[in-house]
Parts: sequence; C-alpha cells; structure tokens
Amino acid sequence: MLRIGFLTSGGDCQALNAAMRGVVKVIQNNCKEPYELYGFEDGYKGLIYSKFRMLTGSDFSGILTRGGTILGTSRVPFKTIDQPDENGLNKVEAMKQNYYKLQLNCLVMLGGNGSTKTANRLSEEGLNVITLPKTIDNDLWGTDMTFGFQSAVDIATTAIDQIHTTASSHGRVFIVEIMGHKVGWLPLNAGMASGADIILLPEIPYDIDKVIDAIEDRDKRGSRFTIIVVAEGAISKEDAKLSKKEYAKKLAASKHPSVSYELADLITKKTGREVRVTVPGHVQRGGAPCPYDRVFASRLGAEAGKLILKGEFGYMVGYRNREMVKVPLKEVAGKLKTVDPKADIIKEAKLLGIKFGD
Ligand code: F6P
Repeated sequence: MLRIGFLTSGGDCQALNAAMRGVVKVIQNNCKEPYELYGFEDGYKGLIYSKFRMLTGSDFSGILTRGGTILGTSRVPFKTIDQPDENGLNKVEAMKQNYYKLQLNCLVMLGGNGSTKTANRLSEEGLNVITLPKTIDNDLWGTDMTFGFQSAVDIATTAIDQIHTTASSHGRVFIVEIMGHKVGWLPLNAGMASGADIILLPEIPYDIDKVIDAIEDRDKRGSRFTIIVVAEGAISKEDAKLSKKEYAKKLAASKHPSVSYELADLITKKTGREVRVTVPGHVQRGGAPCPYDRVFASRLGAEAGKLILKGEFGYMVGYRNREMVKVPLKEVAGKLKTVDPKADIIKEAKLLGIKFGD
C-alpha cells in the first residue's frame, strides 16, 4: 500500500490544485499497488494537530482551473517550529508522530520559502518529503520559476493597464503597489509588461530625488502622466542604511499604511503634482490559474508523482534552464532568489527607459 499525504502551506496562489491533481493523476495512471491519499487541512497545522481527510479521485476532478487550495492553508512560520505551542506540544515531534501513525510513505508539500525550510527539517528528521515550488513572488531558490507567478503577473499587469488610461485622462502621477515584500520579480515583470515608467524594487533602493527627476523629465517631454510601480517592500536609500530593527520601528511609527503612500506624500510635497495610489493586494493571488500555470503546475506535479513511484525523496521539483529538475531540499532551504540589480533584465529595462530610482 502506498500512502501519500498532501499539504499546502503559506500564502496561497493560483495552480495549487492543478499541481496536486498532477501528482494524483500520475499515481492513478501508473501506480501498480493500492494507494491512499491523505489531505492535511490548513497547511502544517493539519499535520501538527492531525486534522486530515482521506481524498479520492473525485476530490481531484474539476480542480485544474480552480484557484486557491482545496486543502486550505495557513502560515506556521519556520522560526516558531521549534517553539512548543500554547499547550506545550512539540510541533516537530507531533508532525512525525502523525506521519508515522498514518503509515505514510511520503508527504507532498506545496509551499514557498519558509514552508520549504520546515519541509527540509522534516526530511532531516527522517520523513520522506517532496516539495513543489508555489508562490506568486517567484523567489524560491533552485527553480527559475514558481507556479502562481505567471497568473499573478497577468493580474497585476491588467491592474496597471487599467490605471494607464485613467492616469492619462487626468494627467496624474499614479503609484500602483504590487506584492513583493522581499523580492521584486512580480513588480518588475508586471511593470515591464504594462509599460510602467518607474519601477521601485526591494533589491534596488531608490533615491526620491531621482524618482522626482524622472517624473519631471516626462513632464518636460510632454507626457501628461507617470506610472510608478512600487513593490510592497520598496525601500529608499536612506532607509536601506537603517538596521532591520530600526526600519521596522520606523514603519510601525509611520502614519502611512505602506511605502507607496509615503512616497505619494513626498512627491506631492516636492512637485505639487496630484498623486493617486492603487493597491490591487490579494486580487493578485486570487482566481483561476492562467494557462501557463496550469501546464507548469501539472508538469511539476507529474515529476513529483514520478519521484514518488521511484521512491526518491528529499527533493523540491523545480525548473531550470528549460528542464525539470529535482533539487535537494537542503540546497533550497533558507535561500531566496532575489532580483540581481546587475541582471540582464534590469539592464534591458533601463535601455528601454524605465527608471529604478537608483
Ligand atoms: O508570499 C506571497 C505574498 O502574497 C507576498 O507577495 C505578500 O507580501 C504576502 O504574501 C502577503 O501575505 P498575507 O496573505 O499573509 O497578507
């Protein structure tokens, strides 16, 4: 009997269901022995507190196109994994016990950076684990692409496109805040796809005077409006000099709900221009996966299914240089794939006239 447990962890994204369906299709079509599928509810919480349900083929029918996750998800930060819960429960031991109690042969975890660290921890503890790279942020090390990213790029691009027309009618400066606290792949790609004039990323601290120069340059050249795409985690050169603690303190004391509003205030003060802020927020993570993500997540799922049938564990299935690869979890855990300010895509964006405030 082959017993497989599934869980989806961390912030959701599009194509989680498509990826799980991919794994299950491979098992259904190729497994020579009987099998059982277990779905842990709300991420690692389900594994810690033994909240699961048995899944059958019908659970995976019709979910290729469905957004969100049929299992539910939650954030159990890696840094809390070794802290006992409020009742003194050892979370890692609880997860191991529940895995062994169900006699699982493996656990398939769909998650991002933090969740993969926990998966690696469980793998080091002796559990058979395979992970699939999910996140709209595309920041998982070891894979060129994560599923959910392309769907979010599509949504964010549409949002910025919509703003373009109203910005142009009113001759306004518009800031569109795009998700990405630590890395800027999503704002970079959505910004380029929608013809943004200025893109501010966490990896490239900005100088407010350079941002203003770029707006005024456009004014001089007769452009009536400016579109600024700002990552959630965009940071000024000044703030980048602060320690993590000092910066967190500054943010906590700020009257602005996010960096975009602070920037809008500064631009208005320095230029007298009318500035509006739009925050698409979780819309970027919602709804059906785009066709690219449906195919990509299905392929990742198929590769994970193959690994399960071969009995190979301790890997994240990724995609590198146009090939599916298995990356040892210990290589992935704890590393972020950030935007290199010297990368070709940044150089090309600059050649296209996009300003980064640096
Ligand atoms: O990690 C995905 C992500 O959507 C980030 O881009 C964003 O900063 C964060 O999650 C939002 O988290 P939450 O859903 O917990 O508000």
